[in-house]
Amino acid sequence: MALSRFIFLLFLSSCIFAVLADVSVENCSDNSTIPTAQMSANIDSLVAELASSTSQNRFSIATYGKGTDKVYGLGQCRGDVNSTDCTTCIQDAAKNIRTNCQNQTDAWLWQNDNCILRFDDDQFFGNVDPSSFANLYNNDHPQHPSAFKKQLDALISKVSSEAVVPANEGLGRGKSFSVASNDTIYALTQCTRDLSRHSCSECLNIAIGNFPKFCNNEKTVGCRVLYGSCYVRYEIYPFYYPLDS
Ligand SMILES: *[C@@H]1O[C@H](CO)[C@@H](O)[C@H](O)[C@H]1NC(C)=O
Ligand SMILES: *[C@@H]1O[C@H](CO)[C@@H](O)[C@H](O)[C@H]1NC(C)=O
Ligand SMILES: *[C@@H]1O[C@H](CO)[C@@H](O)[C@H](O)[C@H]1NC(C)=O
Ligand SMILES: *[C@@H]1O[C@H](CO)[C@@H](O)[C@H](O)[C@H]1NC(C)=O
Ligand SMILES: *[C@@H]1O[C@H](CO)[C@@H](O)[C@H](O)[C@H]1NC(C)=O
Repeated sequence: MALSRFIFLLFLSSCIFAVLADVSVENCSDNSTIPTAQMSANIDSLVAELASSTSQNRFSIATYGKGTDKVYGLGQCRGDVNSTDCTTCIQDAAKNIRTNCQNQTDAWLWQNDNCILRFDDDQFFGNVDPSSFANLYNNDHPQHPSAFKKQLDALISKVSSEAVVPANEGLGRGKSFSVASNDTIYALTQCTRDLSRHSCSECLNIAIGNFPKFCNNEKTVGCRVLYGSCYVRYEIYPFYYPLDS
């Protein structure tokens, strides 16, 4: 798979500190023009089926079509997002992914940070694909960078170990306050549910291992690293649900 395009749609600031609003991030592959009208029709059917089954079950994988026109897809809501928001999210994603990645045989879209929709003409279930990614970070620096980094590393490690517990369905989240950093950090990790415990851990480790590269050398109070099979985010404000936990 060679995904290679990325569109970053939205950036907002508040007056207290810069807050990166919920965003939609997609990675469409540039070089995979859909070869047949049948495959294009199959992608439409697949995406519609995923929108419907993910609305009901919060997670679904599906295949559509036969032979060389067969396509594979996955839909999933972030574990902390409620059913109402999940349905809205996956329906929006279904619309947007076909508009934004209309000529691609493989694409993924994280819609408003709340859900992911993905399709491919190659079978990808259970695989970690580190080749297509996106990142965004806050330009504000922590007050005490080295204390912040220490606190962040510990929190991310705790939250990741939660995500790989099968009962948690790929979701880990938590917060921590440190006097030394003078910040409360909130963090969330989410794997797609087709991944094994081992693959979830692998995907999260790749994402976290890329913090120095993707998160302004970790000199930032907030960052997101997104892949087609996992998501990691931290901020100094609550962003996951319920907002007070
Ligand atoms: C896309 O295809 C063109 C021409 O075939 C090639 O030059 C280019 O390197 C490819 N880009 C990627 C990202 O694979
Ligand atoms: C779902 O979560 C949203 C927050 O995004 C909240 O506004 C809404 O009231 C919640 N709906 C239900 C049914 O709990
Ligand atoms: C998709 O392909 C069609 C037909 O080749 C072309 O007209 C259209 O501009 C392409 N869309 C994008 C987003 O590249
Ligand atoms: C999307 O994935 C490609 C790899 O296929 C990567 O080169 C590109 O940088 C990704 N987009 C962003 C903004 O990271
Ligand atoms: C802690 O942070 C708050 C607000 O961010 C600031 O007003 C306060 O001076 C800081 N305290 C210390 C000891 O750095």
